[in-house]
Amino acid sequence: MLLGRKSESKRHGAGAHFNIKRSRAFGHTAQVGCHLTLALIKFLFKMSPGEIYSLHIIHILSILLLIGTTFYSFAGAPDTKKRIAIFSGVAALLILLTGIRMWQSQFSFALAGWIVIKLICWLGISAMSGLAYRRRNQVVLWLSLTCLFAIVAVIMAYVKPF
Ligand code: HEM
Repeated sequence: MLLGRKSESKRHGAGAHFNIKRSRAFGHTAQVGCHLTLALIKFLFKMSPGEIYSLHIIHILSILLLIGTTFYSFAGAPDTKKRIAIFSGVAALLILLTGIRMWQSQFSFALAGWIVIKLICWLGISAMSGLAYRRRNQVVLWLSLTCLFAIVAVIMAYVKPF
């Protein structure tokens, strides 16, 4: 490598040597820039203990709200459909956002099986309330599926088997 550079500078004169020096300096500056950017990203996205607690609490409260509104929709009057859709929609969104933030900060977006299963359960529970209003005759099926999805999601959160 060194020989190569020497022979290059011999062949092309002092200009080539200067070019090599300049490109090395540029490489060094780029490296420092990358390190600084990474440090800034880490600083900005680092969670304080307060945020960790808040995210967990909002995650759990939103789950309670989603499950509650979903169960309400199994027996609620048809005119409550719109209000329930708003509440369950907000709850589902909060679950997803807090879940994604915890996934980013605690697990660096590592694609684990338990996260995928939880996403499927979340999608399933979020769809239940709309289905229950539209297909009242199959309410037992929706109720059983909601319980199943909730149980599986909680097991995934605590056991993380894969
Ligand atoms: C309705 C579906 C869901 C249920 C029932 C559920 C349930 C739970 C529970 C019980 C916890 C433990 C909270 C704690 O220890 O304080 C938890 C944590 C967590 N959830 Fe969910 N979750 C659901 C959806 C999601 C979704 C969609 C995501 C991802 C996008 C997600 C990501 C997480 C993460 C990253 C944690 C932190 C795990 C840890 O600290 O070890 N969850 N969830």
